[in-house]
Amino acid sequence: MAVAIAVTRERREGETRCAVTPETVKKLLALGAAVTVEAGTGTGSSFSDAEYEAAGATVTGDLAAVLAGADILLKVRGPTASETSALKTGAIVVAMLDAHREKATLEALRGANATAFAMEFVPRITRAQVMDVLSSQANLAGYRAVIEAAYAYGRGFPMMMTAAGTVAAAKVFVMGAGVAGLQAIATARRLGGVVTATDVRPAAKEQVESLGAKFVAVEDEEFKAAETSGGYAKQMSPEYQAKQAELTANHIIKQDVVITTALIPGRPAPKLVTAEHVASMKAGSVIVDLAVEAGGNVDGSKPDEIVTTANGVKIVGWSNLAGRIAADASALYARNLASFVGLMVKDGEISVDLEDEILKAAVVTHKGAVVHEGIKG
Ligand code: NAI
Repeated sequence: MAVAIAVTRERREGETRCAVTPETVKKLLALGAAVTVEAGTGTGSSFSDAEYEAAGATVTGDLAAVLAGADILLKVRGPTASETSALKTGAIVVAMLDAHREKATLEALRGANATAFAMEFVPRITRAQVMDVLSSQANLAGYRAVIEAAYAYGRGFPMMMTAAGTVAAAKVFVMGAGVAGLQAIATARRLGGVVTATDVRPAAKEQVESLGAKFVAVEDEEFKAAETSGGYAKQMSPEYQAKQAELTANHIIKQDVVITTALIPGRPAPKLVTAEHVASMKAGSVIVDLAVEAGGNVDGSKPDEIVTTANGVKIVGWSNLAGRIAADASALYARNLASFVGLMVKDGEISVDLEDEILKAAVVTHKGAVVHEGIKG
């Protein structure tokens, strides 16, 4: 019997993406797997059941049957408790599990003896670039953040010279110049904004400048050493944060649009924009907080709301920006997953080598135990 791969509809509020597309059904079939897709899986991403069937998947509305027969379950977000309890014991689950925060999901997977892989833990090594969901989703989220900002902003982004006078270009400040931030910079520049950006990683300076934006940061000794060997940001000292806050205060007051993308893996997002900063901005200015799900970079941002402050600043807090460009986000995510599944499935057989560098870094539960060092205990 061929390996059975199942994909179910996302059941979390607001999750529009899906873990397989008609294109990746074909890739999974080429690995020798049989693919079953729950009816309606692609709706939020504009893929119809008929397209999945035409690609070679079995489409059914019988969720219990989909789950009970699955050797591997592919999801965008962690499965719900009822999905996990309907899996056969020892099944493989692959999703963005948000394993640092979603302890109940992890516990359910452990209890079901699942071998669960958290895609957010795939290491950023060259071989795993095609599986890098953080990059694929952050890229689109960064783009979408600018589109949301432009939509909420009551003025234009580009400078426009008209017979009735000149429209000034929007001043856009991007805080955090990782994958999402760099795409936000590029998008805001394409729209004609005057873009500045900041980050605590020294490597970001050159990347920001190569996109034609100006880099704004306190560049002291701590800044020069502020990058982990994995290329991530470090937690900065209170002294650095104070200096950065002062620089930020003087800069933010002049901005029309602020987009914050700063994250530190496994920790709450750093607060970068204070209530005072927000109060100093002009009426009609827009802030988009991409870190809202991780606690937020901006004082007063609220998940899935646009908050308008007393001084007329709009703070946009969409928690799933990639999900607001769902068809592309699903297409990239599903390709990431198909490549990941290719590490375990060949010629219709499953073989999971937990010594493989990528699988080892991503596995979180196995044989009834939480096995990931970063989230044990
Ligand atoms: P992330 O999503 O963890 O964080 C976003 C950004 O926020 C980062 O650039 C971080 O330095 C910044 N940040 C954190 N605290 C801050 C603060 N207090 N003030 C201002 N900025 C702050 O990071 P992301 O986007 O996932 O990737 C970070 C870097 O990792 C990339 O820019 C790249 O250099 C590297 N990377 C390497 C890859 C590879 O080699 N395959 C793939 C993707 C990223």
